[in-house]
Amino acid sequence: MDAHIKILREHKTDALKGGGEDRIKRQKEKGKLTARERIDLLLDPGSFRELDAFATGGRSGEGILAGDGVVTGYGTVEGRLIYVFSQDFTVYGGSLGLGHAEKIVKIQDLALKNGVPLIGLNDSGGARIQEGVVSLAGYADIFLRNVLASGVIPQISCILGPCAGGAVYSPAMTDFIFMTEKNSYMFVTGPEVVRSVTNEVVSADELGGAATHNEISGVAHFSGETEEDVLYRVRVLLSFLPSNNLDAVPHQESKDDPLRTIEALDAIIPENSNKPYDMHEIICAVVDDAFFFEVHEGFAANIIVGFARLNGKSVGIVANQPQVLAGVLDINASTKAARFVRFCDCFNIPIVTLVDVPGFLPGVAQEHGGIIRHGAKLLFAYAEATVPKVTVITRKAYGGAYDVMSSKHIRGDINLAWPAAEIAVMGPEGAINILHRKAIADSETPDETRKQLADEYRAKYANPYVAASYGYLDDIIEPSQTRPRLINALEMLQNKRDENPPKKHGNIPL
Ligand code: HXC
Repeated sequence: MDAHIKILREHKTDALKGGGEDRIKRQKEKGKLTARERIDLLLDPGSFRELDAFATGGRSGEGILAGDGVVTGYGTVEGRLIYVFSQDFTVYGGSLGLGHAEKIVKIQDLALKNGVPLIGLNDSGGARIQEGVVSLAGYADIFLRNVLASGVIPQISCILGPCAGGAVYSPAMTDFIFMTEKNSYMFVTGPEVVRSVTNEVVSADELGGAATHNEISGVAHFSGETEEDVLYRVRVLLSFLPSNNLDAVPHQESKDDPLRTIEALDAIIPENSNKPYDMHEIICAVVDDAFFFEVHEGFAANIIVGFARLNGKSVGIVANQPQVLAGVLDINASTKAARFVRFCDCFNIPIVTLVDVPGFLPGVAQEHGGIIRHGAKLLFAYAEATVPKVTVITRKAYGGAYDVMSSKHIRGDINLAWPAAEIAVMGPEGAINILHRKAIADSETPDETRKQLADEYRAKYANPYVAASYGYLDDIIEPSQTRPRLINALEMLQNKRDENPPKKHGNIPL
């Protein structure tokens, strides 16, 4: 064999060793895969092409191993190109020094130039302490590119180990964060620092585990039982997304009949309008093959967001969930849905909104927490979105929440309602207490009077025909017709063009 080829092969073998066998063994003992095993699971078999396997960031001192703790390159998922980096915890805890940062920056630049999604597999202790300010500079270089790529290419982060400092701020600026249920943590500073600064004693799991970030903070959007599960679901997520902001949404042939009617929906709304039902049932009944890929499932469950397909094309679904807090809009629901609406708008994904909302959640905690500011985010997001927007009011649409939930007035393209829809300034109980306080107080049978007045109010104001008479609803439909009507509306809107006035950017109330 040519001596040069032999040397090359030796170098390549060295580069594959990462932090060495002992550290790989420790990684496995924790139940974690190696950086390369993760890439193999994410990509189509044999499609990975590595870049910079020999990089060490030569200027940053001694003892840096080839590859510098991160594997970078490109490959395909279901035949579509993606860029990927995968941090190697066996090399200085996956921490980020100069060479490591330069490798990530290189594929960020390539992904942006080529309009290709970028997936980050994070397993890192953050800035490499030994490299000092150079590591901080490296992170800042990455953050800048995260921001420049935002809204141009999808950026997805998987947290597959303990991630701290810069290793959480870069994912925080990407579009979606996945975490594994065990072994993954995200925190600005770990439990030790927390104890020394605030005297709080907290476990790593409680402080920044998958449950914490999927259910309490809302930092993460998905959690998976295993790394295999997480990486598989990243592939599924990618199947809904275009490669960049100039591409059309992907189309997947579907055998589900676009004209399929669903008689069960005619009976899904309970007689008593204060009784809950599960909005998931409506979503799954309507979309292709009952396949709904829910985002942020564990967070603010009073609103549901996620991806599905209608007649083979990706749509983003936003739906109030009457089963949780009666589907009310609160701070978390507003920010959750606002971010999702903006994501769909960035990437040409039409938005289907299913409305059953009694209003914004009243109360001191919400007001002091800034429900005005946070609720405004959702209003802003819907109003600025120029993708096709189709809305179906299944039951309640009261007060400001009627306006917010993709109403005609903020450029809803097609607005439909089911026949039992209640659309008014407020619910009957609240309204009659204000309008008829004296009559109720003077009545000998106040409960009956209240009921009679509420029925009258419902008949006069809380129905869909008033809104339809103004053209605020384009049609009132039988629930069983919802799937064909949605597909028809989206087909009619497929060449929609709409623009906002030229500006540097709007000033969404953050
Ligand atoms: C250099 C690091 C490192 C780091 C871990 N290691 N973090 N080396 N720089 N930041 C090394 C350890 O020395 C160890 O080396 C190996 O990685 C594995 O670490 P362990 O501590 O043994 O693993 P574990 O018990 O699983 O704990 C993982 C950890 C912890 C939670 C990530 O290591 C940790 O708290 N690290 C520091 C986190 C941090 O504060 N980073 C700086 C953030 S500041 P050996 O040789 O023993 O195998 C930052 C600023 C960016 O990132 C800007 C933000 C806006």
